[in-house]
Amino acid sequence: MEKAGIRAAVVTGASSGIGLEISRRLCELGYEVHGIGRDFSGTMADEGMRYFAEQGRFCPVVCDVLETDKLCALVRDIAAHSGVSVLVNNAGIGYYGLHEELGPKKISMMVRTNLEVPLILTQQLLRSLKKNAGFVINISSVTAKQSSPHGCAYGATKAGLAGFSRSLSDEVRRYGVKVVSVFPDMTKTGLYRNADFGVGEEEDSYLLPEDVADAVQSVLTARDGVVITEVALRPQIHRIQRKRRGD
Ligand SMILES: NC(=O)c1ccc[n+]([C@@H]2O[C@H](COP(=O)([O-])OP(=O)(O)OC[C@H]3O[C@@H](n4cnc5c(N)ncnc54)[C@H](OP(=O)(O)O)[C@@H]3O)[C@@H](O)[C@H]2O)c1
Repeated sequence: MEKAGIRAAVVTGASSGIGLEISRRLCELGYEVHGIGRDFSGTMADEGMRYFAEQGRFCPVVCDVLETDKLCALVRDIAAHSGVSVLVNNAGIGYYGLHEELGPKKISMMVRTNLEVPLILTQQLLRSLKKNAGFVINISSVTAKQSSPHGCAYGATKAGLAGFSRSLSDEVRRYGVKVVSVFPDMTKTGLYRNADFGVGEEEDSYLLPEDVADAVQSVLTARDGVVITEVALRPQIHRIQRKRRGD
């Protein structure tokens, strides 16, 4: 049940990068944000997020999203106490390189984190989202829309997530639920920690997490009756930077 006047949101991967900025924006918009992640030590060093946490607006939920039973119990509890109006499926990991060199463990972790978890979480929260005519916002990637050599498996998980969004949108729109895919291009976050490349040096060669939060805000504030189903975000120029050994 929704608390009087306060809408609740669940954001996965809320401890850093894009999920952290989306969480901050949701708090600013007046949501009570239940942010899921494994390590909030860096997040809580952020004065703004500490303030929202002290106000009870940002609730860090420590959970590995791959622990399915624990995750499901946690979100069911959140839905029972707060009702959920917004689910942002954002937690994700990327391993890059030649597909033959990835290995089964990395492939499985990407498929589970980037695709299985959003499917399960959405299923767990749909009843609450229908009741509140809410939003499912899936953070996909431009790699879902194009060929991604050296990111074949990552791109496949993001294309799968976009396909899920499209079908779910048609399944639930009659119930007032809005399903949205966001397709960011290279964004300056820690996502490329496992890669031998990162974002370019020029400011117009990458997105900032705040840019993705802007897109989420415009989706959430569209006129009632309008659903923005897809948002693609690209930097002005395309540039990546090869890392030197030790970077
Ligand atoms: N950066 C880009 O260029 C880019 C472009 C397109 C799409 N995206 C997508 O944007 C999303 C956010 O990524 P980001 O760029 O912000 O990278 P990031 O800074 O590395 O953030 C990833 C987030 O996912 C969480 N996470 C990962 N595995 C988890 C697990 N097993 N359990 C709980 N939380 C987990 C991390 O939290 P903990 O470490 O605390 O667990 C972290 O908060 C991802 O889905 C990514 O694919 C990113």
